[in-house]
Amino acid sequence: MSRENWGSRLGFMLAAMGSAVGLGNIWRFSFVAGNNGGGAFLILYLLCVLLIGIPLLLSEVSIGRKAQSDVVGSFKKLAPGTPWFLTGFFGVLSAFLILGFYSVVAGWAIYYFIQYVTGSFAAQPEAGYGGAFGEFISNSWYPLFWTALFMGLTIFIVVSGVKKGIESANKIFMPLLAIILIVLAFYSISFDGAAEGLRFLFSPDWSAFSDPSIYIAALGQAFFSLSIGMGAMLTYGSYLSKEHKLPGATLGIGIMDTFFAVVSGLVIFPAVFAFGIDPASGPPLVFITLPTIFEQIPLGGIVGVVFFFALILAALSSSVSILEVPTAYFMRVFNWSRRFTTILMGSIMFVLGIVVSLGFGIWAGVTPIGERNILDSMDYVASYIFLPLGGLAMILFVGWYFTKQQALEATDFTGSAVGNVWYFIVRYFAPIGIILVCLNSLGII
Ligand code: PHE
Repeated sequence: MSRENWGSRLGFMLAAMGSAVGLGNIWRFSFVAGNNGGGAFLILYLLCVLLIGIPLLLSEVSIGRKAQSDVVGSFKKLAPGTPWFLTGFFGVLSAFLILGFYSVVAGWAIYYFIQYVTGSFAAQPEAGYGGAFGEFISNSWYPLFWTALFMGLTIFIVVSGVKKGIESANKIFMPLLAIILIVLAFYSISFDGAAEGLRFLFSPDWSAFSDPSIYIAALGQAFFSLSIGMGAMLTYGSYLSKEHKLPGATLGIGIMDTFFAVVSGLVIFPAVFAFGIDPASGPPLVFITLPTIFEQIPLGGIVGVVFFFALILAALSSSVSILEVPTAYFMRVFNWSRRFTTILMGSIMFVLGIVVSLGFGIWAGVTPIGERNILDSMDYVASYIFLPLGGLAMILFVGWYFTKQQALEATDFTGSAVGNVWYFIVRYFAPIGIILVCLNSLGII
């Protein structure tokens, strides 16, 4: 069976940006920044994106493009007879963990969308937005309906094939989401008391740097948001043909993704402080803050409809890239059809989603890791262990397994001065950085 290909470099760019921009930029960025002191976190996050994330993104895509195979197959092909392919298994495992909870959160977004369509969020519910949200997610079965719907949509798009399914929707909805976010940011900044939020986000509390967990939080967020370390970008790169240049494309993806995160911060934090919401509310943060904003602005009900619609599409263009990782792998290994493989993988992830969702209801007392509930625990393992380790393996592969010439050639950097800087980062700086952050989070240094 011949493998699919993107129609054009733009097609790849759109799909990869679609993968990067999603709930990670809005939902996850906000609550992780809120939990980790705001400004100090933002600085570390930006450094991680620039000095580790984007160079790794380029490396990851180049592995896939060179090998033209899935996340396990690529390593088997390029490094036969070595254990490098284990990196791929980490990736496949991360995909299950991440989509397991991602689909639950995306389900919440669909629920909000419906609330705005039916007008039931036009006025604050009696319990307040926070209370109503808590009630909704603690319900055993109701949220699962929305999780199932989201998973079903994801499966449908992946069954249609990466190219047909993914390329087109992003062209319209990503710019739309960007515009709404920018407008919302202006409103949010104009609320009384918003300045405190800007200070929270932009003037770092230096003492926060002494907390070791902030470093791994920043690194994990950079990886999660850029979709790196799992093989989503590798798999997308494998549908790219050799004539397309990579460095500019990956830099563009990185800048775009960071832009969305920073603008989301400008929407959420001024409002959080203006309305006395706790910035450390955790995963519910944006689901409490956004409706509070919509209530205050003209035409908020309509903005809510459009915003959540665009957010759902952004989440879908990310979730398809996650589902594509195990799908591409199992399709090749077992020679299953795309349809069968996708439905099987998606169903397993949905079962994980049920577990995650019940973790806010009848299993609220289940805390697998530390004080963390099921969602937080799965996110912890995926974002703070698997993605960094997967990313470390990929960057070492390009920096040390490839010769310098191979590395530069794989990334279209041959003969470029910037290529030498990139190579230094990939060979020394980034691996050491990732290792130090991981050791630090384990309390070893
Ligand atoms: N980057 C996506 C987001 O920000 C999520 C994602 C993580 C996608 C890991 C692929 C791999 O929403």
